[in-house]
Amino acid sequence: MCGIAGYIGEQNAKDIVINNLKKLEYRGYDSTGIAVLDQDISVIRAKGKLVELEKKLEDESAPGHVGIGHTRWATHGKPSDENAHPHRAEHVVVVHNGIIENYLEIKHNLINNGAQFSSETDTEIIPLLIEYNMQRNGLDFEQAVLSSIAQLKGSFAFAAMSTTEPEKILVAKNASPLIVGIGNNEMFLASDIPALLEYTQDVVILEDHQMAILEKDQLTLKDFNNTELDYQVKKITWSRIAAEKDGHKHFMYKEILEQPRAIADSMRSRISKQAAKVSLSELDGMDTDKFNKIVFCACGTSYHSGLLAKQWFERYLRIPCDVELASEFRYNDPIIDDKTLWVGISQSGETADTLAALHEAKDKAATCLAICNNMDSSIARAADYVLYTQAGPEIGVASTKAFSTQLSVLAMLCVHMLQAKSKDKVSELVHAILHLPEAVQQCIDLNLKLAPLAQKYMQYSSFLFLGRGDAYAIALEGALKLKEISYIHAEAYAAGEMKHGPIALIDQNMPVMAILGEGIHQEKTLSNIEEVKSRDAKVLIVCTEQQVQDLKLDQNYDCLLIPQCHNFIRPILENIPLQLFAYHVADQKGLDVDQPRNLAKAVTVE
Ligand code: F6R
Repeated sequence: MCGIAGYIGEQNAKDIVINNLKKLEYRGYDSTGIAVLDQDISVIRAKGKLVELEKKLEDESAPGHVGIGHTRWATHGKPSDENAHPHRAEHVVVVHNGIIENYLEIKHNLINNGAQFSSETDTEIIPLLIEYNMQRNGLDFEQAVLSSIAQLKGSFAFAAMSTTEPEKILVAKNASPLIVGIGNNEMFLASDIPALLEYTQDVVILEDHQMAILEKDQLTLKDFNNTELDYQVKKITWSRIAAEKDGHKHFMYKEILEQPRAIADSMRSRISKQAAKVSLSELDGMDTDKFNKIVFCACGTSYHSGLLAKQWFERYLRIPCDVELASEFRYNDPIIDDKTLWVGISQSGETADTLAALHEAKDKAATCLAICNNMDSSIARAADYVLYTQAGPEIGVASTKAFSTQLSVLAMLCVHMLQAKSKDKVSELVHAILHLPEAVQQCIDLNLKLAPLAQKYMQYSSFLFLGRGDAYAIALEGALKLKEISYIHAEAYAAGEMKHGPIALIDQNMPVMAILGEGIHQEKTLSNIEEVKSRDAKVLIVCTEQQVQDLKLDQNYDCLLIPQCHNFIRPILENIPLQLFAYHVADQKGLDVDQPRNLAKAVTVE
């Protein structure tokens, strides 16, 4: 995790770097820091969020046109002023995202050669190693950086400045993201694209094993062997406003409301009403007939997308599917081969475990398809095929529109593969998918006023979420949303499992959120609802108005309504009131909805 920002040009570096760090805070926010190079280097750091650094900066002028900054999610060393980046040696200062695996070995060597450390971080070895290479080995700044990189093992994106060459920022990337923004006589640096959009739409996305030398009017790209490389400047078409809050109190709320648009964008030019078919041109050349197994692999919310996809793909395609936690996958010697379609699902495209799982799948000759939101992210680039979701930047740490768009793309993938096998059901499923943006909008409209319900339940300390079949994945996602932003303990169970243990927890202090589903699942879940009701639990039900009427549901139940729809897309709708419920509970509790404690948006370390 961690966010890196940088600026070199003619404006005040401090202001621009701080502004960019604000947009990167989702990557980590336990401490922050900035270094500005003028005659000397000023380093200002603070434990806590960026506001703490801004308070410190009120008393510091920190002049200069060259600067780097960092927002941290602690890995080595607890959050503190000392462990905050930038880290400094005599002439060199560095910010870093990633983990240096062999830092202890390097640290001991440097200490034996007289270096002094002032933090517990792995990062501090980088400036000290560069300094050592400059002073002891007589290398210039650039050569010292290259020589230091050769000694580093692990993942890193770092930016370095030196008083010996004050007109440059040197950056290097291996397995953590880094983007250079090109301006007019100025260059910007950030860990993601949205952070740069206020200043430029022209970016260079660094590849692994690349180093860049930023001067205000020139960008030079090299590989780690010092060979100069050509590069491509990409024009980013995301609007700046899309990356901002749009007048809402929180990004998460804005992103929930954006879902009809995000889904429609993800469907655009991939699904046709007239032809009643799905066309995923990104998969041209993929021989879908050859697969005898599909493995969905991801973490967190994206893993829940995989759980639902398994239900769909097995039901309609009759292909055996596995769903794997990316953090477990590569340690389990997975049984996959060249007849396996491996589908990695990741909003950020930077999740370290999912990326490592992808490499494992590739090594075992599986065909690797990535479903990602972030363009040109590491996972997207490493995969054989990519289907992008068009959610736009997701800034709230809790994933909402990314989940809905992943499911929309997975639904289209399912139909795309079904078309090659049989025409049965295709037209029906295409029409169900086409109805999604409208149905999600109806769902949002039905649940806009959940604040009073949230107030009723916000004092409970535990929740149970129940669902069967497709709704089980949604129960897991609903529980994750509630726990991560409201800090209320929430567990999800396949409703039939309740009797095998969790029912012991049920009493008047344990509200149960049941996702009713339909058909056989509805019947069975209704029995489970009766069981919890007779043990005094407060009951909330996700269902349609029609079900409330037809089943004569108890008036004491709190119903979160979804519109009538085809059962294929129903789980996507069932998730919407759960997002809004979690949002309102956290908001009523006065919590930091967009940046919940201990979390980061992109988990780029194992
Ligand atoms: C929860 C959440 C996380 C992510 C997980 C994977 O709201 O956002 O559980 O889903 O960290 O992230 P990506 O999809 O970026 O790989």
